[in-house]
Amino acid sequence: MNILITGGLGYIGSHTVIECINNGHNAIIVDNLYNSKIEVLHKLNKFLNKDITFYKIDMQDIKELENVFKENKIDAVIHFAGYKAVGESVEKPLKYYENNIGITINLLKLMEKYGVKKIIFSSSATVYKESKILPLTENMPLGVTNPYGRSKLIIEEILQDIAFSDKDFKAVILRYFNPIGAHISGLFGEDNNGIPNNLMPYIVKVAKGELEYLRVFGNDYNTKDGTGVRDYIHVVDLAKAHIKAIKAFDFSKNINIYNIGTGTGYSVLDIVKNFEKATGIHIPYKIVERRSGDIGEYYADSKKAKKEIDFTAEYGILEMCKDAWNYEKNRG
Ligand code: WQD
Repeated sequence: MNILITGGLGYIGSHTVIECINNGHNAIIVDNLYNSKIEVLHKLNKFLNKDITFYKIDMQDIKELENVFKENKIDAVIHFAGYKAVGESVEKPLKYYENNIGITINLLKLMEKYGVKKIIFSSSATVYKESKILPLTENMPLGVTNPYGRSKLIIEEILQDIAFSDKDFKAVILRYFNPIGAHISGLFGEDNNGIPNNLMPYIVKVAKGELEYLRVFGNDYNTKDGTGVRDYIHVVDLAKAHIKAIKAFDFSKNINIYNIGTGTGYSVLDIVKNFEKATGIHIPYKIVERRSGDIGEYYADSKKAKKEIDFTAEYGILEMCKDAWNYEKNRG
């Protein structure tokens, strides 16, 4: 299939481009390079021995975006593009709503105009309400605490409404848990400049000596060691889930939602210990106060994805840590 991949030069997008091409599909990438670099396209072309069709487009410009549909026969869309910093979304909600929802409406309008009826949407476990009942299943209550999460939830609901109005429209919503790690080649991974917000990007900067120690945000949660527990999934497993998700386009239900996680929760201190074991590098840390907005513990029930689209994460936590470090130390 010809698959339009929005945000295709980003962290998860670039890994998904690799899996698409490796599974015999053509990728057409749209990216505005707001949170990615053109060098990723050059590396993808070299690594895949391809000349991937690429458009540097801000999807808020529907005229620009329409050229992609005019110039390519698109069979399906994988939609990653969007701002994703939770903290920034709290400070600048309008920026997040205008962009994340605005570009999605532009995309969906053009899909309708050009008869493109299949979309896989990059959603997030952040749409779930904090729950004492774990693991999280897809039918658990939804509730968001920040504009980033709310933009994801609103887009999910837009897709539900379109699917209800048009039985030929096929949507697959993937709720990602915590993607970490990097491609085994060491060529693709998470590019973090400045002080990272997320745990693994921060740890690799400590390992590199760019940051002095890891701040552990609270050790008074009701978890095994008091630190926050999350379901970390290797980014390559996550990318592979998008290829598996294509199966769902043929299901009788025309909108399907899947948790994409491993089903295992790891605490912050577990991650530190596993990173040290995987790399031999000591990660100094200090316990500090909780980060506002954090939830103590969540991890996925991943049985539905296994049963319906035959997706199961394969990489373990040591590989996630090893690959994350391998990329960071290689990227200079
Ligand atoms: C993980 C754990 C922190 C940094 C976020 C977004 C989510 C998704 C993934 C996009 C928590 C602790 C972290 C640090 C720490 N993004 N931590 N010190 O918050 O689970 O999810 O990223 O879809 O939407 O909300 O990920 O990596 O920031 O935190 O102790 O320097 O590590 O408290 O327990 P999070 P994270």
